[in-house]
Amino acid sequence: MAILDFDISSKLGTVREVDTRKVSVLVENDEDLKKARVGQLVAIELSGASEIWLISIIEKVIRFVGQHDIENKNNDDKSDSDVLSEPVINNVRLTLVGTFGWVAEKGKITFTRSISQVPGITDNCFVLLGKQLETFMSVLSATGKKGEHSLELGNYIIDETAKAFLDGNKFFQRHAAILGSTGSGKSWTVASILEQAAKLPTSNLIVFDLHGEYSNLSYTRRLRIPGPDELDTSSDELLYLPYWYLNAEEMQSMFIDRSEFSAHNQVMAFQDAVIDQKKNTLKILGKKDVLNAFTLDSPVPFDLDKVIQTLNDMNEEMIQGTRGIKQGQFFGQFSRLLTRLKSRLSDKRYGFLFSAPKAEHDYNAMARTVTKLMDYSTENAQIKVIDFSEVPSDILPIIVGLVARIIYQVQFWTDHEKRRPLALICDEAHLYLPEKFGKNPIETRAIEAFERIAKEGRKYGVSLVIVSQRPSDVSTTILSQCNNVISLRLTNGADRSTVSKLMPESLESLLEVLPIMDVGEGLVVGDAVLLPSRIRINKPKEEPLSATIDFWTEWMKEAEDPNFEKSIENMRKQRRK
Ligand SMILES: Nc1ncnc2c1ncn2[C@@H]1O[C@H](COP(=O)(O)OP(=O)(O)OP(=O)(O)O)[C@@H](O)[C@H]1O
Ligand SMILES: [Mg+2]
Repeated sequence: MAILDFDISSKLGTVREVDTRKVSVLVENDEDLKKARVGQLVAIELSGASEIWLISIIEKVIRFVGQHDIENKNNDDKSDSDVLSEPVINNVRLTLVGTFGWVAEKGKITFTRSISQVPGITDNCFVLLGKQLETFMSVLSATGKKGEHSLELGNYIIDETAKAFLDGNKFFQRHAAILGSTGSGKSWTVASILEQAAKLPTSNLIVFDLHGEYSNLSYTRRLRIPGPDELDTSSDELLYLPYWYLNAEEMQSMFIDRSEFSAHNQVMAFQDAVIDQKKNTLKILGKKDVLNAFTLDSPVPFDLDKVIQTLNDMNEEMIQGTRGIKQGQFFGQFSRLLTRLKSRLSDKRYGFLFSAPKAEHDYNAMARTVTKLMDYSTENAQIKVIDFSEVPSDILPIIVGLVARIIYQVQFWTDHEKRRPLALICDEAHLYLPEKFGKNPIETRAIEAFERIAKEGRKYGVSLVIVSQRPSDVSTTILSQCNNVISLRLTNGADRSTVSKLMPESLESLLEVLPIMDVGEGLVVGDAVLLPSRIRINKPKEEPLSATIDFWTEWMKEAEDPNFEKSIENMRKQRRK
């Protein structure tokens, strides 16, 4: 018995025109044309080969009204029979997506995305429905699952009984994006993926959580950038990022104002002073080999107060001239820099950088911090959630960028044999990876760190998963590196056109469904899915704290005194607890 057994009722028409990936189908009559729905699957029976079908997606259904026909419509006195005698050419346009059938080498029925044969003119086309669709989808599901690296995402919309799997290798190998309007289900999709990854013994995913949405998931390790009122405490949960982690460029973007006349001198003097202090630390510790390879960017603890002291001295220096005492070379040039340095240092919001407990300035502290961030071997360590919800928004990009850069560099410098793949899940990416930058040096830093990962991360096993509700606001350099896209409902036109640029050209017509999809429904495209298709994404067992608020229902309830005093106090303390 044939694998797919079509009868005449599912015949759509015959091939009329073939382009590399596009096929045009001639449909005999209106009745047959009615079988075609955009987005539906069509199997093309290859005349030369038996038990092989090309699978395609309906992109466009056209009922062609000929020239005469239009004239006739406007002309009432022509009889009906005249109209009917005009040939009506009905046309369905398809995009080829893969080959289905018996593969002798494998000894089984499979679906592959390669298209080794092209359809011939007049080959028969059938719509995949009912029993035939079930057969096809079950093979598709099984093919997806066969790979042991399969990640279950949900169910196909065209056949809800068929499970949709992603190839977990391919999904992470070359970066992915999860996009959709607010409330479309991105965070839930992320949680659903995390949940499965958490079951793997040494998976390694780091989630940048900007709203504390993932903080309740039981299978995660929680980390938090400390807020202003907990600066003197150390705990496993708190993630300090002492200033000496910053590289030269990050420091400059924090302290130097490039528009100032003396900016160049400021940079030179500041860097020299930092180098001296870092070298000093290395000498005291007897790290000869590190000292030999030392650069300004080396993350070595140093005393920032001493740097300030040096700059201060230069700023006030008086020297002996030929006609008595005169002002030194840099006299007064560093006044603004010093003011800026001091105000940053005393700003409690920057406390996790400048007011970390003493132990965090230990030479080995960085290794401990990195272990918190990147370890996967202890219990619940596979999924690390870093909560940035209490980091003020103006410095958010630099902090997220710093964490990403450290992770990437550590991975880069880990011995090849010891290197283990890891993924960075960047939720709300538009907040720190904006498309339009240049004005703000702090934002530029974050983008550069991530762009580097986007371009080179694949080689070192660092993957990005970009999650955003405003794809049109996210850096295109980064988004365009994402090979797999899960697009949930997307209503805004600019965002949709951004997503369409990420999709292969032949599939653009699929995007038409983006604004009308349901919550939790995604269009998945990329090499990780066998068939680019709409998928109803599984609900995670543990839900993130992102529930949509039901305004009307809430307003109907009795409620307690709101206690805004506490809110104001929280605002002052920059903490909710
Ligand atoms: N797969 C799903 N199945 C059913 N309901 C879902 C699904 N995903 C999300 N929802 C519903 O949609 C709500 C919002 O989902 P989610 O928080 O994931 O949106 P989001 O896209 O992350 O939004 P935002 O951009 O604002 O963060 C959830 O609280 C839930 O009620
Ligand atoms: Mg979200």
